[in-house]
Amino acid sequence: MKYLIAFAAVILSACASAPAGPGRDTPVFATLEGAPPIIIAHRGASGLFPEHTIKAYTAAIEQGADFIEPDLVMTKDGVLIARHDHYLSATTNVADHPEFADRKRVRATPLGDQDDWWTDDFTLAEIKTLKARQQFETRSMAFNDQLDIVTFDEVIDLVLASAADGRTVGLHIEAKWPGYFSSAGLDMVDPILTALEKKGVKAAGIPVFIQSFEPPFLAALREKSDLPTIQNMVGPPYAAMMGLDYKLEDMKTTTGVGADKAMVLNKDGTATDFVQRAHALGLVVHVYTVRDDRPAEGFADSKAELRALISAGVDGIWVDYPETAVAVRDAR
Ligand code: G3P
Ligand code: CA
Repeated sequence: MKYLIAFAAVILSACASAPAGPGRDTPVFATLEGAPPIIIAHRGASGLFPEHTIKAYTAAIEQGADFIEPDLVMTKDGVLIARHDHYLSATTNVADHPEFADRKRVRATPLGDQDDWWTDDFTLAEIKTLKARQQFETRSMAFNDQLDIVTFDEVIDLVLASAADGRTVGLHIEAKWPGYFSSAGLDMVDPILTALEKKGVKAAGIPVFIQSFEPPFLAALREKSDLPTIQNMVGPPYAAMMGLDYKLEDMKTTTGVGADKAMVLNKDGTATDFVQRAHALGLVVHVYTVRDDRPAEGFADSKAELRALISAGVDGIWVDYPETAVAVRDAR
């Protein structure tokens, strides 16, 4: 039962791109179940549009992504919004809002002190006066200051509408900084589960994964839900700095892991033993993040990188440019 939705997701992906014809008798994918790896639109089609906007998510759906990925943080009034960071300066125009100038403050983070605007110092109504921005300088700024910051409910509505139109896409949901939010009285477990339940996500057949870098959040979630969970893993040096230095063999209760791609591929493009070890433990491996405009060292382009990851047997890939990844996966 625990794996039902995850398997449905894989089957969904397999149905969309099942290999056929002569010479296809042997499995072409070295994934845990032999199905094609899922393509997860990392913050939407974030290479093309400001991340975590309806525009970015919609483009990802149109480009054939199997899942869109909302990272979630909380507002002061306890609303889940889709943002990668709980600070606002990098991906919104908050700095151009003089009415919020005195809201800027220094906070200690695991990566050091940071002077910024923080989501849980703002109500949803205030957040809704902001607009999204592209944070990578080399990417298009054409949509800056036009697109709204969206709630988790609005993201769910988007996938429900897409499913009703015959295009089912999953939700690969990440709780960001759940330990911090819990300590601030904004626990994320119930709001996430309640939103999914109230919106009828399961009844609509929407595949779901819940992911986090923080084991206690996933443990708390598992006490209340049988949704498949992905324990994200961070590589050195951040693992130790952030207190997230745990091993693959420690993963006893999750459906799988979210791995830094450097854990899966060596710099010469050959595969490490990571996927093999994970699969031996019954864990799926989703890897982050492949970007057309930033291929990993040692690869001519993102297509070569994607092919190497797929050959290594990964079960899912977070990508900033879903169209490229879907094409490479489906050409297999
Ligand atoms: O959640 C895993 C993947 O999205 C990569 O991490 O930092 O971009 O959320 P991040
Ligand atoms: Ca994420």
